[in-house]
Amino acid sequence: MKNILIIVGSMRKGSYNKQLAAHIENSLEGKAKVSYLDYADLPFMNQDIEFPTPETVARVRSEIESADGLWIVSPEHNHSIPSVLKNLLDWISRPREKGNPDAGKTSADVKVTLSGIGGVSGTSFARKALYDICEFIGMNVVADQGTGLVYNRDAFNTGEISVSAEDDAKLKEQAKIFLESL
Ligand SMILES: Cc1cc2nc3c(=O)[nH]c(=O)nc-3n(C[C@H](O)[C@H](O)[C@H](O)COP(=O)(O)O)c2cc1C
Repeated sequence: MKNILIIVGSMRKGSYNKQLAAHIENSLEGKAKVSYLDYADLPFMNQDIEFPTPETVARVRSEIESADGLWIVSPEHNHSIPSVLKNLLDWISRPREKGNPDAGKTSADVKVTLSGIGGVSGTSFARKALYDICEFIGMNVVADQGTGLVYNRDAFNTGEISVSAEDDAKLKEQAKIFLESL
C-alpha cells in the first residue's frame, strides 16, 4: 500500500482544514497508508541557520522523502497560502549541502495533490499559488489545482464542517487520480 503524507496548512486546534484532512484520510482507508506531517516547530527560513541543518528540518525532509506522495490540505490566507506552509515549502526547496546546489533538494520530483476549505473562493487563490510554488520547486502536482470546498453556513457556529455529497465525490475522484499516479 502506498504511503500518503498529509500536510495541513493550519496550526489551529479546531482547524476546518484538519477536519477536511480527516475526511480525506477516511476516504483513503484500505487504499493507502496515511500519516500527518508535524511541522509546527520548524524555524523560520533564515539562511544564517541553514547549515548545519536544524534537527526539525532534517526530520521533516526525511518524512517527506519516505512518503510516496503528499496531500496538502490548506486554508487560504489573504488570497494566498498561509505563511507556515510557505515556510515549509521554502525549507524543502533548498539544497542539503552548503554551496552545493546539486545536493538534492527534498522537493524534487515529489508527487503532490492539493485541497482546501475556505470562504467563497473555495481556496482557489491559495491553490493557484500553491500549484505555482510546488511546480517551481520541482514537485509534480497531480490533478491540477485539486479540490476546493466552501464552508457550510453553520460551520462557524458548530465549529464543524460538513462535506456535501458533491464535494465528497470530487475528493474521491481526486484520490483515485492521485493513487493511480503513485
Ligand atoms: C490572516 C488570514 C487571512 C485570511 N484570508 C482569507 C482568504 O483570503 N480567503 C478565505 O477564504 N479565507 C480567509 N481567511 C479565513 C480562513 O478561511 C479561516 O480563518 C479558516 O478558519 C482558516 O482555516 P482553518 O480553520 O483550517 O484554520 C483568512 C484568515 C486569516 C487568519
